[in-house]
Amino acid sequence: MTSLTLARPDDWHLHLRDGAMLRAVLPWTARDFARAIIMPNLVPPVVTGTQAAAYRDRILAALPDGMTFEPLMTLYLTEDTDADDVAAAHTSGLVKAVKLYPAGATTNSASGVTNFDKVRPVLERMAEIGLPLCVHGEVTDRDIDIFDREAVFIDRVLDPIRRATPGLRVVMEHITTLNSVDYARAQDNSLGATITTHHLVINRNHILAGGIRPHYYCLPVAKREEHRLALRAAATSGEARFFLGTDSAPHTDDNKLQPCGCAGCFTAPNTLPILAQVFEEEGALDQLEAFTSKNGPAFYGLPVNQDTVTLTKTAPDLPSQIDTAEGPVTVFDPGFDLTWSVQ
Ligand code: DOR
Ligand code: ZN
Repeated sequence: MTSLTLARPDDWHLHLRDGAMLRAVLPWTARDFARAIIMPNLVPPVVTGTQAAAYRDRILAALPDGMTFEPLMTLYLTEDTDADDVAAAHTSGLVKAVKLYPAGATTNSASGVTNFDKVRPVLERMAEIGLPLCVHGEVTDRDIDIFDREAVFIDRVLDPIRRATPGLRVVMEHITTLNSVDYARAQDNSLGATITTHHLVINRNHILAGGIRPHYYCLPVAKREEHRLALRAAATSGEARFFLGTDSAPHTDDNKLQPCGCAGCFTAPNTLPILAQVFEEEGALDQLEAFTSKNGPAFYGLPVNQDTVTLTKTAPDLPSQIDTAEGPVTVFDPGFDLTWSVQ
């Protein structure tokens, strides 16, 4: 196959940041994607409907002339979140999900949740109105090994929350383990799971073997090869519960290349070429559109995009780094030469 046309993809988990970084990274997403679920972990976080509306306006103002893109806004769940405010932001159409960060789990998660009982009223309200909860699924206990934090979260937090809140629609974000794939497969259609581009490509050896590679460090951290293979099987399966959430998370090289560097891989510019190659390697190019363009809208109850993108079998001309007013940001290097381009 040398050409592939897909309904225009959406990104169901994206970090756009704010200010100069937003202006630099947004065009890369808007080039290939029609919509994205926008993560609310700004400093300070996007907690209220008013804050989400203002952030949406800043995103649209940062969009270059001639480009179209629809930001699907989320609210950052805190122990003080007001259920009425959440419901109003949902009813108005502004907000498409609420994001749960366990406090301390990742970048700008300090205002997240420590005591899950405190957010129960908000979760019950969300179940009533059908508003999905996007979950960063890692426990934060210091005594739990970082490679086990996702699997432990399922047993200790996720499953209890779902049992206590029947009907709550949940997205397991950026799953990285066979455990999550198995758990997702055993649930009904109130549960979806996003998979990133980079977790289909790297395992933990890529980060640590033969030298430490900070640009491959993200959270949840990449796991053993058997987990990467399970993610590839899930993503390419066509199953409706699995869809693309890139978790493209730009940080300047200055902030990545530190004794204590930031977590995040910037994959917005090359996600579609990488995915086409992964799906081709798996003999599943016919399932790419389900993963990038169909399963996500179905979960969120939104129409599939009418517009299309076409991929052709030619090496893309993509930068290895982009310039921002805050400094350069390195684009995720899949470690192989790309063979598909977005036309
Ligand atoms: O690697 C990550 N980067 N994981 C997250 O959960 C947050 C993100 C970020 O905001 O940088
Ligand atoms: Zn994220």
